[in-house]
Amino acid sequence: MYDICDMHSHILPGIDDGCRTPQESVAVLKKMRNDGVTKIFATPHFYHSRGPVEEFLACRQASEEVLRAALAEESQPVPAICCGAEVAYFSGIADFEELSQLCLGKSRFLLLELPFTPWSGQVVRDVGNLCLQGFVPILAHFERYGGVQDRTMVRKILEFEPLVQMNAGRLLDVWKGRGARSALKRDAVHLLGSDCHGLDRRPPQLGQAIALLEKKKMNTELARIEALSNEIFREACGGEDENCRQRID
Ligand SMILES: [Fe+2]
Repeated sequence: MYDICDMHSHILPGIDDGCRTPQESVAVLKKMRNDGVTKIFATPHFYHSRGPVEEFLACRQASEEVLRAALAEESQPVPAICCGAEVAYFSGIADFEELSQLCLGKSRFLLLELPFTPWSGQVVRDVGNLCLQGFVPILAHFERYGGVQDRTMVRKILEFEPLVQMNAGRLLDVWKGRGARSALKRDAVHLLGSDCHGLDRRPPQLGQAIALLEKKKMNTELARIEALSNEIFREACGGEDENCRQRID
């Protein structure tokens, strides 16, 4: 089993449309660990229009503390957790002074949710400016933007060489799974995430997706994703995974 870090999840309780209670979060985390996932980024939604960063960070910390208290009652192992955010794009995001506080842990990797409406030149410029300022955008669930996007705009954004994250559910999809695996083979996808929202709503499926890729003999792709995701996790934890584990265990 490859040790791939889940780059995208909504496992913190009561902060967004993800897990509703600490009990649900604990159940999700136990299932993930049983499925072989040992590291996970908790990435609650952040919307610039809904309030200041300080408020979001205070809510995230409170939610993390509730989860830590619930996990203290458990003896079963769970994945090591590091906090970040799924930052919804907003115009001028690259000039937002507090943006670094929304990156994954202590890193400069930023999980970015792009608009589901056609991307404008401003969106393209902002992604470019993020890169210029030393951020590394990770484009969340990139497979979900297809259809409405102009190919030229997609190409322009990818020219900045952001990292691309795909949801595990797409790899398991009966109809779209083949195309998703093909994107992995072309190195058009760099990272995977469950985008888990709960036990039943967008459930934790990363372990199953990894198992499927192993069955399909996609070892080169799995090894590549394992190495990169672990490197990001280490950087997010300030160079030491144990820091993240201790914050929760
Ligand atoms: Fe998400």
